[in-house]
Amino acid sequence: MAHTPFTELLQGDLDTLETNLRELLDPQLIKKDHLSLLNLACGRGDETGVLAKILSEKSKSAHLQGLDIRAAEIDQANSRWKKELSKKEHALSADFITHRGDRLRDLDHLGTPDIAFLRHQNYWNDKAVWTQIFDQALERLDEDGLLVITSYFDKEHELATAALENLGALQVGSIINPNSRALSDAPGKSVDKHLAVFRKT
Ligand SMILES: C[S@@+](CC[C@H](N)C(=O)[O-])C[C@H]1O[C@@H](n2cnc3c(N)ncnc32)[C@H](O)[C@@H]1O
Repeated sequence: MAHTPFTELLQGDLDTLETNLRELLDPQLIKKDHLSLLNLACGRGDETGVLAKILSEKSKSAHLQGLDIRAAEIDQANSRWKKELSKKEHALSADFITHRGDRLRDLDHLGTPDIAFLRHQNYWNDKAVWTQIFDQALERLDEDGLLVITSYFDKEHELATAALENLGALQVGSIINPNSRALSDAPGKSVDKHLAVFRKT
């Protein structure tokens, strides 16, 4: 049997993410002249194009700020997305920095994003650190701000949701993706299996 090329698998994941994110955010995200999104623990930021598309449907201009502790992934994200977004007609910009998400308080200049986004949050890898990431992300939002997570695992999603609610977040939407692509490196792991959106209470 022929194998699907990896790039096609990734594109399929991103197409599904786009559909689900649009459905999740459409009722929550208010149109504005300018929208900003803070992509925490973004790795290479593969989903930047999807996020930019969704923001551009709701605004005249948008900025995407990514952050991760892995410098090599951040370098890749900057080389790919700064160039790629500048080619679009819409006024879109992106910037990625190497920094700890649990030290977000050090970065005053990042301001107040409309959306704090965490794809494949990793709460159970280090609950104390991720509780800090969630807490400091929520702290940045104003009353219209949204915090969006996606998760690979059922249990991890449940734990992250409970942690966010414990920090005062209110879940206002969620999607379970029954056809999410299974990954073989861990049982029960699949791409963007859960998505959820929260507001501050
Ligand atoms: C499961 S990966 C998800 C990466 C990316 N969002 C994606 O969906 O492909 C978790 C990410 O969290 C990052 N990470 C772990 N601890 C972090 C911290 N304290 N601050 C910022 N990023 C962190 C890792 O470097 C990794 O890129």
